Amino acid sequence: MAETGNTQELMDELRQGEVYAGQSEIPSGLKYYIESYGCQMNFSDSEIVASILESEGYGATREVEQADLVLLNTCSIREKAEETIRKRLRTFDQLKPARPGMLIGILGCMAERLKSQLLEEEKLVDLVVGPDAYRSIPGLIAGAHDGRKGLNVFLSREETYADINPVRLDSNGVTAFISIMRGCDNMCSFCVVPYTRGRERSRDAYSIVAEASTLFEKGFREVTLLGQNVDSYKWKNPENGQVVSFANLLRSVAQIHPDLRVRFSTSHPKDITDEVLHTMAAHENICKYIHLPVQSGNNRILDLMNRTYDRGWYIERLEAIRTILPECAVSSDVIAGFCSETQEEHQDTLSMMEYARYSMSYMFSYSERPGTPAARKLADDVPLETKKSRLAEIVALQNRLSLEHNRKDIGRIFKVLIEGDSKKSKEEFKGRNTQNKMVVFPKVSAYRPGDYVLVEIMDANSATLFGKIINTPPQ
Ligand code: SAH
Ligand code: SF4
Ligand code: F3S
Repeated sequence: MAETGNTQELMDELRQGEVYAGQSEIPSGLKYYIESYGCQMNFSDSEIVASILESEGYGATREVEQADLVLLNTCSIREKAEETIRKRLRTFDQLKPARPGMLIGILGCMAERLKSQLLEEEKLVDLVVGPDAYRSIPGLIAGAHDGRKGLNVFLSREETYADINPVRLDSNGVTAFISIMRGCDNMCSFCVVPYTRGRERSRDAYSIVAEASTLFEKGFREVTLLGQNVDSYKWKNPENGQVVSFANLLRSVAQIHPDLRVRFSTSHPKDITDEVLHTMAAHENICKYIHLPVQSGNNRILDLMNRTYDRGWYIERLEAIRTILPECAVSSDVIAGFCSETQEEHQDTLSMMEYARYSMSYMFSYSERPGTPAARKLADDVPLETKKSRLAEIVALQNRLSLEHNRKDIGRIFKVLIEGDSKKSKEEFKGRNTQNKMVVFPKVSAYRPGDYVLVEIMDANSATLFGKIINTPPQ
């Protein structure tokens, strides 16, 4: 499924990476600049790439004009995501000729999807490196300095970068992401991820707990465990054959310290178990928030999407959450205008959203991705205007639901982890409550980012709760 085309191509790509490895040394004092697009996993991968580069003597810069190596970690999920990257590359048209020796690399999902085609189409690009090939970047750079364009899009069944200590980029020093698995074995018909990220594999549980413990010791107070489908996390300890499930992992991370908050994303409705819900209930520091993408509320469309659950199953999972975790907020991803979707079927999505009372949703109109099962077998036949109007209805409904959800919080008191200054004012802090809601409140000098405070909510809009600190939470 997920591996690149034919074996010969794979071997050639692998060899290319290997040949370049160990060539001329990277000169010291060079600077890299990295931009990340797409999901949190990409941002997390950039921190792994940064670590690989820094161990080769590269230093980070935030100024693209000063960089010797410019990397774009790209996303392919929708056509627009790829267009954004193409546009960004055009802004380097003048920059690169003015800086001889500067290299431009494309990493991530677009690199994996387009492979050598990207080198042919984008003459500025020197390196194309897929998500499982980041260890070969130093070798590819050395080759590129010798005038050879570098390509490594080999997808691995084993690579988890478990031994690499990520360099925290753009960190607030309070919250961090930890990748617990890579790839995806689901075959949602609309989705390019199984092709760009390869087979699902889970990372060594000990390395995850060690990474979270180190973060806590450094002052971080929240970790988000990342995977395309965290509920199918499964790691077998090679020493004793013991199998660690997602619920087991969640418990181990939660036990590091009661002041370390634990979040996770993304949960798949077909796989989320009661055991995970009970584990959440048993630990105050596992946040009461689940991102549970529904995609559509209609059974025929869910079937065409190959989501492997139906509306009834999804509702049953919601009910389990409501019973086991009455305070839990649920959010979603929704796609408007999937192949052959009728007006009535679209209404089912709206009614599903209404039933679920999502606190928040990410909403998209369907974008056909070349090579996916939907692109091969189904016609992308909902007119663009219809997709747009359905999406607008979905967005309007979610705005109402978010506002209702947030207004119910007025008068309540929440434990909030301070993340930093609010966007609008240096006089205010921002932080999140357990339900992942952004809370903004006036600063009180005794507190700083990384502290927990109790905040009473005075006002709310659809995106933010506003309140004031009332005292510190009981320890
Ligand atoms: N693994 C996660 C989703 C990862 S992609 C899950 O299964 O829920 C994030 C979201 O992008 C998806 O949930 C879906 O809503 C959206 N998406 C993926 N492919 C898309 C496409 N071809 N067109 C529009 N939206 C898409
Ligand atoms: Fe894509 Fe489905 Fe995997 Fe999510 S679970 S990454 S939507 S294939
Ligand atoms: Fe995009 Fe790849 Fe993530 S396609 S959403 S960056 S897994």
